Amino acid sequence: MLTYSNVNVNYGGLPVLRDISFKVEEGECVAILGHNGAGKTTLLKCSVGDVEGATGAVSYRGEPVVRGAVFMNSRRGIGLVPQGHNVFRQLTVRQNLGVAGLNSPGGALDDVYRLFPVLEQRGSQIAGSLSGGQQQILALGMSLMTKPSILLLDEPSTGLAPVIVNDVMDSLRQINNSGTTVVIVEQNIPATLKLASRAIVLKAGRTVFDGASRELARKEDLWTWF
Ligand SMILES: Nc1ncnc2c1ncn2[C@@H]1O[C@H](COP(=O)(O)OP(=O)(O)OP(=O)(O)O)[C@@H](O)[C@H]1O
Ligand SMILES: [Mg+2]
Repeated sequence: MLTYSNVNVNYGGLPVLRDISFKVEEGECVAILGHNGAGKTTLLKCSVGDVEGATGAVSYRGEPVVRGAVFMNSRRGIGLVPQGHNVFRQLTVRQNLGVAGLNSPGGALDDVYRLFPVLEQRGSQIAGSLSGGQQQILALGMSLMTKPSILLLDEPSTGLAPVIVNDVMDSLRQINNSGTTVVIVEQNIPATLKLASRAIVLKAGRTVFDGASRELARKEDLWTWF
């Protein structure tokens, strides 16, 4: 469903992604792991056409991902939850969800409320006054308002208490089980290897592992990979 073919990215002459090729199949849940600066965020951004000067090809359901046209790519069903709590801080929770769903007629609000009841309970609260974890859940809810076929998440568990991390991972499992393909970038390796069936490890912009999460989790030298 999502295919990278020989994708290269350089920033100021420095290679950030080197010859990245992989395919994500419909319904898969894939983890992208790697140390700080390994190129994970850049890799995700290529999926929505948000990296100027990327070479090689990224395609979604057989059609090229158009560079520079994030909006168009999102309308085709590619949802990205960027790193950090990306919400409109001055708007209420309900308004945030409304804005996110503007271009997706039919609405997914009921589904989002069913998955995250806290968003319905706090509908009239200003988003900037939500806790960090609640803002992360709101950002996730907002991405679902576009009814994506593939959901790309950039470190959704960062800054969350362990119990909330479990909740977020459980929600992602439900989203994946209900048919949405999931690609998740994470630093929380143990929790992510439990969620994703496949893992890709980046090191300095190169793929150094692409295989079953179970296989990676079993490695005795697991931590040397990061
Ligand atoms: N717009 C940019 N201009 C110049 N360099 C950039 C730009 N964006 C990213 N980089 C560099 O590219 C490298 C990869 O960055 P990227 O954000 O993809 O890493 P990451 O794996 O997501 O790291 P982290 O785990 O810290 O989020 C880093 O060295 C970063 O400084
Ligand atoms: Mg990043």
